[in-house]
Amino acid sequence: MLRFTLYLLPALASAVTYDQIRPILAERCAGCHQTGEIGPMPLTTYQQARPWAKAIKQAVLKRTMPPWHADAESSQRIHNSRRLSDGEVNQLVAWVDAGAKEGKPTAPIPSAKQDARWTWGKPDFVVRIPGYEVPASGTLRYTFLVTGTDLPEDRWISAAEWKIDQRAVVHHINAFIRPPGSSYVATAPKGQLYVASGAERSFRHPNEREIDRRELLVGYEPGYRPVAWGPRQAKLLKKGSDIVFEIHFTANGKAVVDHSELGIYFAKQPPEERLVTITPADSKLAIPPGDPNYRSFVWAELQADAKLVSLQPHMHLRGKAYRIEAVYPDGRRDLLIDVPRYDFNWQTTYFLKEPLKLPKGAKLECTGWFDNSANNPANPDPAKTIYWGDQSWEEMNVGFMEIAFDRRGDGDIVKLSDTTRPADSSKPLVNE
Ligand code: HEC
Repeated sequence: MLRFTLYLLPALASAVTYDQIRPILAERCAGCHQTGEIGPMPLTTYQQARPWAKAIKQAVLKRTMPPWHADAESSQRIHNSRRLSDGEVNQLVAWVDAGAKEGKPTAPIPSAKQDARWTWGKPDFVVRIPGYEVPASGTLRYTFLVTGTDLPEDRWISAAEWKIDQRAVVHHINAFIRPPGSSYVATAPKGQLYVASGAERSFRHPNEREIDRRELLVGYEPGYRPVAWGPRQAKLLKKGSDIVFEIHFTANGKAVVDHSELGIYFAKQPPEERLVTITPADSKLAIPPGDPNYRSFVWAELQADAKLVSLQPHMHLRGKAYRIEAVYPDGRRDLLIDVPRYDFNWQTTYFLKEPLKLPKGAKLECTGWFDNSANNPANPDPAKTIYWGDQSWEEMNVGFMEIAFDRRGDGDIVKLSDTTRPADSSKPLVNE
């Protein structure tokens, strides 16, 4: 009897009301669910949240919201995890189950809109999109913006920050450093928005090293917050390099013009560690029609000691699940990120809370699974064999990983399992 009472009391005492769950909505939801952001409805007041109560319960129980695709265990090591704790899920569900009452009146959740100022003060170099006209509807193609830097000497980039103008329409933007002589979208004119064909995008010089072609500087995706690199880390901007934006916008019902900006900061002195993004990729993949579980495997082997900073699995619409594992020279394995339900719409970069030290000889193994069956609702065509290509109806398996290492070493710090399309590929290059 006593046990029964003790069990029942807390439940009765705490009919959860809105004022109690408001901090969860503020912290975990309102960043996207506010006017002008990517979430379809604002959730910044009781009146706004109330009609969504049932949907909120369902979404958090099914863990479709917040969007986050890594599993519970590997998410614990991730600094930018959006995964709700079980306690937060229980609170939200308890609020809905208790009738989604208001409780004490509260102020609207303040807009977390990006500050008008740059986080780290005035940047040394700014790249600005010269007015991208996003129509109200329709599919928008990947668009490129090549900007020359025209600097007299090599520079070290200590930080880079996005200031996104029309956040509701930006699917993603990746900024790359393109060293002189690179084959990467080499046909795009400088200083203007340019839609490159598939062939222009995939063209590369024979035996060109990835580090000589392009290097990811920083990406933007919904939910982005500026992340500082380590205090003694920087990325190399070789004299004569360009900054290339790869831009993907999504029409959102209202025509807008975007002027997003990237601010770049130069280090005052050379860093101790150079940061680069390595990209093992499976350009040989060939996914049979209807195959529900095609596996693709690539790896990168470190040629010197390094620290792993971030990970970004990349596949397209048939991407199903992804894992990145570290394998130490003694054979020990460490599952770094496990993404059991990959979603192409969310190109998440997973930043480790603590950079992971890896010795020379360690391997980073990236496994992607693809669902080319009709059961995959995102599959554009289950009847086709699917090959490598950067259109979303083609496929990719790329493990983008940021690593830091002694700056005096060569930038080509890894041996990759595969980087180039086989010469005998039966598949023609796609030319849109
Ligand atoms: C990173 C951005 C982001 C965050 C954070 C986020 N949402 Fe969403 N939410 C979206 C987007 C975008 C959609 C539209 C559907 C989609 O794309 O999945 C959506 C849709 C929804 C829907 C509509 C039904 C559904 O499940 O599709 C609900 C309900 C919802 N979100 C609740 C929440 C709650 C509650 C939180 C916090 C616990 C939250 N969201 C956090 C971006 C976000």
